[in-house]
Amino acid sequence: MTALKGKTALVTGSTDGVGRVVAEQLGKMGACVLVHGRDRERGEQVVADIKRAGGTAEFLPADLAALAEVRRLADAARATTDRLDILINNAGIGSAGAGRQTSADGHELRFAVNYLAGFLLSYLLLPLLKQSAPARIVNVASAGQQAIDFSDVMLTRGYSGSRAYCQSKLAQIMFTIDLAAELEGSGVTVNCLHPATYMNTTMVRRAGVTPISTVEQGAEAILNLAAAPALAGRSGLYFNGLREARADRQAYDADARSRLRAMSLELTGLCKM
Ligand SMILES: NC(=O)c1ccc[n+]([C@@H]2O[C@H](COP(=O)([O-])OP(=O)(O)OC[C@H]3O[C@@H](n4cnc5c(N)ncnc54)[C@H](OP(=O)(O)O)[C@@H]3O)[C@@H](O)[C@H]2O)c1
Repeated sequence: MTALKGKTALVTGSTDGVGRVVAEQLGKMGACVLVHGRDRERGEQVVADIKRAGGTAEFLPADLAALAEVRRLADAARATTDRLDILINNAGIGSAGAGRQTSADGHELRFAVNYLAGFLLSYLLLPLLKQSAPARIVNVASAGQQAIDFSDVMLTRGYSGSRAYCQSKLAQIMFTIDLAAELEGSGVTVNCLHPATYMNTTMVRRAGVTPISTVEQGAEAILNLAAAPALAGRSGLYFNGLREARADRQAYDADARSRLRAMSLELTGLCKM
């Protein structure tokens, strides 16, 4: 792994689970880490742990269930650093939970937090990433993927937590492929991955599943995309752990990607910028 002295990394959802381990590792590798989450106390604890290990870190709070807070997070990141070398869109909600929920903006909650928030945050931080190039975006998706039904993206019919989770994860992958093409030649690459299967995290325990992987395994796979020299210049890829892999068929459907993109630009208000 490359030493990251002088580099800055933002990891969303780094107050818990695999994101927390990734943030701590990035700190040990010398990066200045922008720790993100919605719980200040746990965020400050992660910052303190990174500093105790000799690193540099700062906590940026935001609830990604509101697009206004995503915008505030981007503003806070820009106010904190004049460079951004690594953006890891990791924050997410799992499949557990009884009924359909919506975000502050009225969007289906998993679509909003797991996908739309990272979509908007990436675009808002692109100028900073481009200015810091070579820079990398990593979207933490999942092997749990389900094709998007464009007649009911907000899942008003036939809702299940698993379907909501899986469509949001495929949306992240579709976004990765599109953004990579858009960023060709900019020095900013974007890749996505399934970090590891059923890591021992809050999300997995909440779903009542017995963990079969460690957070360290998932963190290694995320850090591979974020910092491994072998991935320099490579973009638009989906990895299963440490190996390049194929995602759900819909990810390679250019029409589906373009529908998702148009919809996402509209929902996030980016089309008006
Ligand atoms: N665990 C697995 O086996 C597995 C497998 C495949 C993919 N993944 C992906 O890996 C990523 C991390 O998952 P994990 O297992 O580490 O989960 P986790 O332990 O539940 O951590 C999720 C993180 O996201 C944050 N978060 C959730 N909702 C948020 C919101 N509305 N606003 C801001 N932050 C929010 C959480 O903050 P709080 O602590 O405040 O809730 C936490 O920091 C997710 O994208 C997940 O889909 C995980």
